[in-house]
Amino acid sequence: MNFVEATKTCFIKYADFSGRASRSEYWYFSLFMLLLSICSMIIDSIIAGVPFWEYDDWTGPASLIVTILTILPALGVSVRRLHDIDKSGWWILIAFTFIGFILLIHWAIKESNIGDNQFGSDPLEKINEERIAKPISKLVHFLVIFLAIIFTFFVLVGIGIKMGVIPDTMVLSGKDLAPYTRAKLVSNDIILESDNIIYFYSEGFLSVIEVGQLLTEDRIVSYETTENNQLEKYQMLYKNIKTIELVEQGNFSSDSVYNIIGNENASYESLTILLSAESDGDTKFIKELESRVLVHSVAPLEQDRLNLEEKGKRVAALQLLNEEKRKLEEEKQRLKEEQEKFARLMPRGNPSAKSGGKCPQPRKTKSAPGGISKKDKTGKANLANGKKIYLKTAKPMACKMCHGDKGDGGGKLGKALKPRPRNFTCVATMKKVSAGQMFYIIKNGSKGTGMVPHKKTLKDKEIWDVVKYIRTTFVK
Ligand code: HEC
Repeated sequence: MNFVEATKTCFIKYADFSGRASRSEYWYFSLFMLLLSICSMIIDSIIAGVPFWEYDDWTGPASLIVTILTILPALGVSVRRLHDIDKSGWWILIAFTFIGFILLIHWAIKESNIGDNQFGSDPLEKINEERIAKPISKLVHFLVIFLAIIFTFFVLVGIGIKMGVIPDTMVLSGKDLAPYTRAKLVSNDIILESDNIIYFYSEGFLSVIEVGQLLTEDRIVSYETTENNQLEKYQMLYKNIKTIELVEQGNFSSDSVYNIIGNENASYESLTILLSAESDGDTKFIKELESRVLVHSVAPLEQDRLNLEEKGKRVAALQLLNEEKRKLEEEKQRLKEEQEKFARLMPRGNPSAKSGGKCPQPRKTKSAPGGISKKDKTGKANLANGKKIYLKTAKPMACKMCHGDKGDGGGKLGKALKPRPRNFTCVATMKKVSAGQMFYIIKNGSKGTGMVPHKKTLKDKEIWDVVKYIRTTFVK
């Protein structure tokens, strides 16, 4: 029977579980089924938008349709093949033991019974008049069985992994983790019942408990079963992790090695973890870890920042206060200096200086004509007579009534005058006032001020006497 005949026959005998099927019918139909399932997988991978070689779902829509349409003819041909070697069709059920699958393959390649058996006539007799036994070569038989064993082994391992009994070769996300694995981790106190696993990877060979590492909401856990069957668990809270170092980049055959370095609060200096590089699982695991470490370290940082801000505000306020204080102090100092300067300008040991006029004193007095201002006849003047005029005899009143007996402009009447009487003790003002100038103003007065002319009451000689008295007694 060729490929087309076999396929046709199997579909014609769609749900026919009676009679016999030759090896060619069985194997050509198996080949047809293989090609069909590959096609359906391609279609499904296109539908899912995943490259075909990465697509591993056997339950896509196309696969499902193909399975539904071919399950009966496939079962039928398998049963008929069993009949062909004189076995009951019920033997097909041993496929459920998986190991039994190897036996079924062995039977599937066994040559047909020659001639009729209890299930029907020899399917090959009708084609070949001369029916001769055609046993398959021992080598091919052996190879097929060998492949069947390997295939069965991988199917069993695959089922074990899916169930979580055998550790997966790659990093798994929490939602892909088998409930069995999770239960094992909980029962071995590796995680708490309430813990949510984000990523998990075990390098264990037969059991996930041997060795592994995982991420929960708040920490990384690494565990290992030691030689004396003791389970050692190490864990580090994300907030206690300082850095993550890549020690060795893994590849398809070896795991990536990372060092998780703890900060001063961590119980360990560092944790070494291994991660499979399959499907970039190591990168995903570490990225997740890094982002969680960041989130957990940002929270206290934010707190620090707020504290600093608060502190900063207080410091700024204090600085402002200090600044204000300093300014005040400066102002005080300046005032003191000003006062000292003022006091220095005042004649020492002269208490009435305070009650006297300002110094320097504003002065708008008319200047004496050149000739007179340069005159000075005080040399021959009578000081005692000058004193008498100043303190007593001057008319209309004594000079001291306005200029004060200390010559500082602090006389009884002087205080009410504007401008104030001349302060003879003020060096700054008096250095501009010559003897001749004084003579001129005493004689003629200062128009518009309290300083009246004395030319009618005092002789020139008497004026020079009083100028001498003022200049020797007050003007320094
Ligand atoms: C009623 C008050 C009064 C009496 C009294 C008085 N003076 Fe005066 N004297 C003044 C005033 C006011 C000034 C300031 C005039 C001015 O700023 O131009 C002045 C200015 C002067 C000056 C300064 C002139 C200058 O160029 O700065 C002299 C010197 C002077 N008087 C001497 C005398 C003598 C000497 C007597 C007494 C004989 C006397 N005064 C009596 C009020 C008086």
